[in-house]
Amino acid sequence: MNSNTPALMLDTLGKTFDRPAVVDLSLRVAPGEFYALVGPNGAGKTTTLKMIAGLLRPDTGGISVYGIDALQDPLAAKRIVAWVSDEPMIYEKLTPFEYLEFVAGLWEMPAAVAEERARALIDCLGLGAYAHERCQGFSKGMRQKVALAGALVHDPKLIILDEPLTGLDAASARRVKDVFLKDCVMGRRSS
Ligand SMILES: Nc1ncnc2c1ncn2[C@@H]1O[C@H](COP(=O)(O)OP(=O)(O)OP(=O)(O)O)[C@@H](O)[C@H]1O
Ligand SMILES: [Mg+2]
Repeated sequence: MNSNTPALMLDTLGKTFDRPAVVDLSLRVAPGEFYALVGPNGAGKTTTLKMIAGLLRPDTGGISVYGIDALQDPLAAKRIVAWVSDEPMIYEKLTPFEYLEFVAGLWEMPAAVAEERARALIDCLGLGAYAHERCQGFSKGMRQKVALAGALVHDPKLIILDEPLTGLDAASARRVKDVFLKDCVMGRRSS
């Protein structure tokens, strides 16, 4: 990988269900860059993001993440990618702190690092007052933030967000943007 290696490259990506959902999509995203897919309902945005995250296999084309061929070596790509669904999936019986420790455990992060990172993310996203309450009963926006924190816990190099601000109030939306803009998630690298 050299300094010109894109964070993400899609090459004539295609996926058809009953009818074509994504047709010959090519794009290139540089490290540190924000890139938005905007389009009407059913345009194929979620399908595209799921293919990048390795949850759907494209029919045609290629996906490269920081120089890794995500179709040839999906595990290596998944190690550096985070995906947040438009429908947050979290464990209801866990508290935000427990959930983040659990996710960090899946990534085999050392416990001390996981704890520090969980605390920073909870603080960053304004979840401090709820850190030790079970997620069941949390509002949609709070669940969204817990899911986002879970995706960020292993310090991914590429973050894929599907409608990340849906359901968030104005202040929370601002805070989530700040998480990315101000690098408040533990000195995020730029390459
Ligand atoms: N698992 C699936 N099985 C069959 N068709 C699907 C499946 N997933 C998506 N589609 C179809 O693919 C097309 C694109 O859907 P997709 O969810 O990617 O759109 P979107 O741009 O994310 O829309 P929205 O703005 O509503 O979220 C739609 O016609 C949808 O019905
Ligand atoms: Mg969608």
